[in-house]
Amino acid sequence: MPKITSIKGRLLYNSRGSKTIEVDIVSDKSHLGRVCAPSGASVGKYEAVSFPDNNPEKSLVALNSNLKKFIGLDPSNLKSIHDTIRKIDSSTSYSKIGGSVAFAVTIAAVDSAAKALGIPLFKLLTKDTDLRFPFPLGNILGGGAHAGPGTPDIQEILICAKGSKTVNDAIEVNFAVHKELRKILQKNDPGFTNGRGDEGGWAPKLDNQKALELSAKACENLGYTLGKEVSLGVDFASSTQWSEKKKKYVYDREGFENTPEEQIEFVSEIIKKYKLVYAEDAVHEEAFEEMAILTSKFPKVLITGDDLVVTNTEILKKAAKLKACNAAILKVNQSGSLYDALEFAKEAHKNKIRLITSHRSGEAIDSHITHIGIATKSKMLKVGVVGGERVAKLNELLRITEYDLIHGMAEI
Ligand code: PGA
Ligand code: ZN
Repeated sequence: MPKITSIKGRLLYNSRGSKTIEVDIVSDKSHLGRVCAPSGASVGKYEAVSFPDNNPEKSLVALNSNLKKFIGLDPSNLKSIHDTIRKIDSSTSYSKIGGSVAFAVTIAAVDSAAKALGIPLFKLLTKDTDLRFPFPLGNILGGGAHAGPGTPDIQEILICAKGSKTVNDAIEVNFAVHKELRKILQKNDPGFTNGRGDEGGWAPKLDNQKALELSAKACENLGYTLGKEVSLGVDFASSTQWSEKKKKYVYDREGFENTPEEQIEFVSEIIKKYKLVYAEDAVHEEAFEEMAILTSKFPKVLITGDDLVVTNTEILKKAAKLKACNAAILKVNQSGSLYDALEFAKEAHKNKIRLITSHRSGEAIDSHITHIGIATKSKMLKVGVVGGERVAKLNELLRITEYDLIHGMAEI
């Protein structure tokens, strides 16, 4: 059984250039687990807080004063690592130590343990042998909180090569669509500079409908039929538009407002017109009933909760009871520790809610979430298409194909 022999935290930067925390855990003096915490721009109300008072330095101070508590623990025993963090910070949102520390310490521990045991991380995280590769789901066009003025109000238009039989093909198709879309945007947006949003999707000056139309055209130009070889998805990130005061969704950039009923109509039209396979946060984060209407209306579409469930097991139970979604985003740093996130995954499976393991818009070049996506039997891995910190996760998926322990692609 490996033992933690050292642990160290440091401050460095994520892909947006914002300060974050990285943790090194070494087991048996030789096996390094290193994890850098990501962060979001469209953050759910009930997520774990990243840092106490939004200050990464305070997280580092809190970690440094508790380092000794981790020495000698078995890094493969995720529960004991989690419990040790919980003894330091028992607040529901990790407000004392910061969710980023809970994230980095728990993942660095299992990363170090996997190395000490000489097995891939995903094998350490699950005993299940019936594993499949998740489909890469990638951002091809970005707006909302991820891109500047003039871009679409909706946050992300996504591509998924759902007809692909191999990881390599699925990744290549996503690259091809992303590239083709650039050519189309150069013709259709005179001000287009090849600029990209935080997650690598193009950021043109277009309204929502035009952005969707051109994304569909990119697929068709390559000879694909929407809903067959490829499908589009949308992360509406609707809490960004929701005005609690007006009780309306305010689409500032395009200049219209939707009542909750009109929002359901707006989303439904987009799902039907573009044959979406995936619709995330189509209504705001507390609109469980409206989400339930969409879930019953579109049983074949992944009606997905991100800000709605924030990788929180108790909120997921409520969503399951109300049939508010048939799929949920799993972002480890929303729940805090990896242990919390794996408990969330168990609850999702119990309720037949499909999982989509996801990156954040502010990322590191780490690729642990690729293993977490496989171990949690996620249907999709939402990690972007281009950008070093996005491609790192896709490349890890390709490395994992060498293990021969996974039996083909997931079924969506
Ligand atoms: P975030 O966005 O990481 O900026 O919160 C990603 C998403 O909403 O899926
Ligand atoms: Zn989202």
